Amino acid sequence: MLRHFIDTQDFSKAELLDMIELTRRIKAADRQGCTPKLLQDASLAMIFEEPSTRTRVSFEVAMTELGGHALYLKPGEIHLGVRESMYDTAKVLSRMCDGIFARTLQHETIAELARHAEVPVLNGLTDYNHPTQVVCDVTTMIEHMPAGKKLEDLNVTFIGDATNVLSSLMLICSRLGMNFTHAAPVKYQAPAEWRQWAQENCQVSGGTVTITDDPVAAVKQADFIYTDLWWWVGQEDQIPERQAAFMPDYQVNLKLFEQAPAHCKFMHCLPASRGVEATDEVMDHPRSIIFDQSENRLHTEKGLLVYFLYPRMKRPSEELKAYHKGQIEAFIQTTRADK
Ligand code: CP
Repeated sequence: MLRHFIDTQDFSKAELLDMIELTRRIKAADRQGCTPKLLQDASLAMIFEEPSTRTRVSFEVAMTELGGHALYLKPGEIHLGVRESMYDTAKVLSRMCDGIFARTLQHETIAELARHAEVPVLNGLTDYNHPTQVVCDVTTMIEHMPAGKKLEDLNVTFIGDATNVLSSLMLICSRLGMNFTHAAPVKYQAPAEWRQWAQENCQVSGGTVTITDDPVAAVKQADFIYTDLWWWVGQEDQIPERQAAFMPDYQVNLKLFEQAPAHCKFMHCLPASRGVEATDEVMDHPRSIIFDQSENRLHTEKGLLVYFLYPRMKRPSEELKAYHKGQIEAFIQTTRADK
């Protein structure tokens, strides 16, 4: 069955845990230089409507290390819905590639791509969510789990704007039965629809979601404090207003970090505006795990690519491969221009 990775809400807790476990096994193999070439000769079309460092590099390296190939289709480089319909683009890429990755400005763009694609479509960030990032984040939390705790015991506190990362993190944590808190000024808190989905997740999983405007109360029990940018490309005109709303109370600085338990770790999806949403003291703190988190993007993309693409790969027998090679070589012998 064809499945896309557009939203973690499309997957059960068991399926999300399978993706995480696959990521951890592939990472363990990689640590011993044994990454299996599970996507030998596969191709991934990577459409970017916005710039990227981590997502682009991690998907491209992941495809190479799994034995496949990635095509970087940079902003404006293909006819995505401009001189060609989304339907035609999806059909053409599906005929040539084994998977499609897209980072799109609007969530509806990737949703439409997925409606028409005949190969798996993976979401590399939209204005609504960032699902590959948060599978990586939970994997990183499991690696840094406090002694004596299990996944369902974890307290994750996100401080700051209700970004696409906040949406995905709140939804995956609530689906997995974790305890999630979002601290932000009322105007910048998660919208009602996202909260409702998260609460519905909690009713099934036993997790909790708390929304507050009190950052100190929010970190008191936190195992992980997470933050993200306070403004994104296109929001430059809102910088003074946003800075006034978030600074200084919602900045993750040493004073706020020290309100959390002594084992609490700091996370950031990056890129960061150092000195704005988090200070250097916290970004570079011994309990900051931002670069473990960043590295795990690579291992996670491998896990997700294998999860979605590998089951669809053709794996012909050596006999069948030899048969076709022989047929083609025999034909070439009859047609060579230099004979
Ligand atoms: N975290 C993240 O998605 O980073 P990039 O924008 O660099 O891909």
